[in-house]
Parts: sequence; structure tokens; C-alpha cells
Amino acid sequence: MEPMKINPAGLILETLKQSAGYVSGEEIAFKLKITRQGLWKHIAKLTRQGYKVSAVPHLGYKLVSVPDKLYPYEIQYRLNNKFIGKNIYYYEETVSTQNTAWELALDNSADGTLVVSESQAKGRGRLGRKWISAKGGIYFSLILRPKFIRLQDIPQITLLAAVSCIYGLKKTVDLEYSLKWPNDILLGDKKLGGILCEMDAEQDKVNFIVLGIGINANTRDLPAAAISLFQYTAKKFSRAQILRNILEQFETLYIRAEQESFSFVLKQWESLCRLWGERVRVNVLDREVEGVAVGIDKKGYLLLRKDNREIETIYSGDVFKCNVNPPKKQS
Ligand code: BTN
Repeated sequence: MEPMKINPAGLILETLKQSAGYVSGEEIAFKLKITRQGLWKHIAKLTRQGYKVSAVPHLGYKLVSVPDKLYPYEIQYRLNNKFIGKNIYYYEETVSTQNTAWELALDNSADGTLVVSESQAKGRGRLGRKWISAKGGIYFSLILRPKFIRLQDIPQITLLAAVSCIYGLKKTVDLEYSLKWPNDILLGDKKLGGILCEMDAEQDKVNFIVLGIGINANTRDLPAAAISLFQYTAKKFSRAQILRNILEQFETLYIRAEQESFSFVLKQWESLCRLWGERVRVNVLDREVEGVAVGIDKKGYLLLRKDNREIETIYSGDVFKCNVNPPKKQS
């Protein structure tokens, strides 16, 4: 499997995007060192991929519209990153980007490799739950090979990813996003996205992480507990732009965590979570715990003040506000 590189079609697109008017075929062909016939073939391919290109004799070519696709050349257009998203594997459909990324990681794919798919046949969420992955959403997995992360830091990668998602989404459209422990991205009180962090590790050594993120962007039919940007705003958004923004935020925070530690991520995460001071019920594997959510600890675990004033650390579980019935979850 070869990653989809920026090829001549991508360079043609870049040239057309940089110009408001028509660009002569001669100029593009000269710039890319290809023949006029070669240029025409690439334009025909772009048209098949959903781009609308106007071709006028003696004037040249002009880009009229871009399809809402997660093509590598859309994601990488002006992507200001050093390694996250520099290598992209793109699919119309895959079983799960987590599986594909895992195979690629075992096959030595580079740190920061991105696997992205328009839909997934068996998208999965935390605790083996199903993740609805119809066309219109954003489904991707990143391969990470962090040298600075110890096994006990892994939950903090999920927090870092969650903060990146909110910052990236806000850069695209500024709405009332928030976070719910451990891995939910909310819009209002419904689930807009989720994060799944899987890893290959031994003793205290993390070999690689496969970080999967799903965002309900332009998705239409979702369960009652979930929401998409489209359902919330009645508008469609460029998914490639959202993904690019998230990737940029992620790389910035990740490099900072490597240089400083995760403590700034914990603060940012806490400030984006709306649970503090709320009475919550947490389903922890075989039992239920009730109390007031008071914060997260240095490792990113949830702190609950129980009625006997004792603080319990929650390592895993689903959290519900006590005045709200547990919704039927998407994942
Ligand atoms: C959750 O909220 O439980 C996590 C959901 C994670 C979904 C994403 S979509 C891309 C990647 N591929 C998968 O199969 N799952 C993750």
C-alpha cells in the first residue's frame, strides 16, 4: 500500500486554487513539466473526482468548485505541519481506519501517518461499541510513535486530542462545544465526536499509538444522543478544512507536550469540560458511583466527591449528569 502523494493532479489544483481567474494551459504545463495532453488527462481525472473546472479555449482553466471530499490534496493544501498528516492513506470506504492504521504501523509507517476514510463498514468506539460511520462524517486515525510518552501518560493523549478537536472545530465554526470525560466531544448536550486511543506497548515502552477520531460533520441520520454540525446549523462545512485545522492544533499541542509535559493540556481540557460541580453518576464496569465531579487528576483520571466527602478516582466509565436520563449512545 502506498500513501497517496501530492501528484501532478494535486499540483494542478494548487495552481488553480492560487488564481482567481483563468490560468493558461501552456503556463500550467510548463510549470509542471508535463505536456498539454497530460494536463488535459489530469483535469479529466479531477473532474471525475468531483472538481468542477471550467475550460475555455484561449483562456485556459479555472477552478469553479471543490467537492466535499477528504482527498489528501484537500487536507494537505496549506497544511502547516511538520509531520502530522504528511503521509496520508485515503479510502472511500474501509472496515475501520483503526484496523488499517494498525496494519500500517506494524509495517513501519512513519510517525504522524494519517489514515482517513469517507465511511467505515465497522467503525468502532470505546469498549467495543459501534461507531456509526456513514458518508458525511470525518473518520481518521493517526499513527504516533512518541518517544516521550510512558505507558501511564496514554490517557493524556486522548485529552490532548480532545482539546485539539475543539480548537480545530472552533477555528472552522465557533459553536458551543464542550468535553465530557473521558473521550466525548459535545455540541450542546449531544455527542458530536469521539476519540479512541489504542496502543502497542510492552512493560513501560510504548511502541506505537493508533489514535482514532470520529466527528459528525455533515452527517444526517444519527441516534438521538448524537448530533452533527449539519444538524445543528443546517449548513454544510468543508470536512477537509475541519480535519486540517484539527491536525494543526494536534501537532502544536503534541510538540508542546513533548517539550514541557502534559500539565497545560490538563488545564485546557478542564476549562473545556462543563461537568464541574455537577452531580453525576458513573457506570464503572460492575458498579455505579454517584457524586459531584470536581476535576481531573495529574494523569487525566476523573475525580468524584462522594456523599461521604471522600474523593474517588475514576479510571474508566461512562458519566451521566444525575438530572438527565442516560441517553442511547452512538458508541
Ligand atoms: C468513542 O466515542 O467511543 C470513540 C469513537 C471513535 C471513532 C473513530 S472514527 C475513526 C476511527 N476508526 C474507528 O473505527 N473508530 C475511530
